[in-house]
Amino acid sequence: MTAKLIKGTEIREQILDEIAAEVEEIKAKHGVVPGLVTILVGENPASISYVTLKIKTAHRLGFKEVQDNQSDDIPEADLLALIDKYNNDDSINGILVQLPLPKHIDDKKVLNAIDPDKDVDGFHPVNVGRLMIGGDEVKFPPCTPAGIQEMIIRSGTETKGAEVVVVGRSNIVGKPIANMMLQKGMGANSTVTIVHTGTKDLKAHCLRADILIVAAGVPGLVKPEWIKSGACVIDVGVNRVGEKVSEKTGKKIAILKGDVDFDAAKEIAGAITPVPGGVGPMTITMLMKNTLKSLKFKLGLM
Ligand code: GUN
Repeated sequence: MTAKLIKGTEIREQILDEIAAEVEEIKAKHGVVPGLVTILVGENPASISYVTLKIKTAHRLGFKEVQDNQSDDIPEADLLALIDKYNNDDSINGILVQLPLPKHIDDKKVLNAIDPDKDVDGFHPVNVGRLMIGGDEVKFPPCTPAGIQEMIIRSGTETKGAEVVVVGRSNIVGKPIANMMLQKGMGANSTVTIVHTGTKDLKAHCLRADILIVAAGVPGLVKPEWIKSGACVIDVGVNRVGEKVSEKTGKKIAILKGDVDFDAAKEIAGAITPVPGGVGPMTITMLMKNTLKSLKFKLGLM
């Protein structure tokens, strides 16, 4: 059996088209567009490329976009003051501080300084709490878990009553996606298990999964014999395992490998996400969706 591929690159285009259409409509009716600011501290190459792509995507959608780059020796107090400035800027609906931050800055303090109603990353404790309560309480689901849920829904996978096993318990992926999948409602209502480095028998748990979500950060951790026949497998791992020269550009690029042994797994799974081109493209897409939502909340449209 060869699994159906769940392509993030295709789903991204569908969702971005939906967002662009809504932006046009809101602009015509209300004369405003969503505003997103990205704050980048320092020159971490991976962070620069993420932020550049976020800004480019916001631009493509007709958002107001502000790229605020700061040097890596910015005092913590100045960064907090900058966040306060954007908290009070009416044209900005979403504030994103790119992580990681330099060591002299307390990232908890910084994330907590963002107005929860502009926290489009969904990392503020208020939004984490809202996610836990579920239902109408949720404003900004964190972007990677929201992207995963969207992929599960759009691939036509049944979630109600499904056994969902999440591998990994990070605050950014494992804990929130587990929480989202157990809520009542569409694309959820599942029976959820979280497994992690303290779990005794990973394979036994994974083998029960109708939907297996892997966010462990360990290349090739999940072997084909851990996968139930026909399961939906979502691989969140983006592990840099080497470098190669791009055929398109002639430049050196990273060789990426997921947390799942893809070539073997696709013969057993019913549906599976590739790496790259799977979950990766969904994170920025859902950031755009959250920024649009933030404006809609403000306009009373949600
Ligand atoms: N660094 C890596 N991923 C993310 C993300 O989703 N949001 C932010 N703010 N920083 C990141």
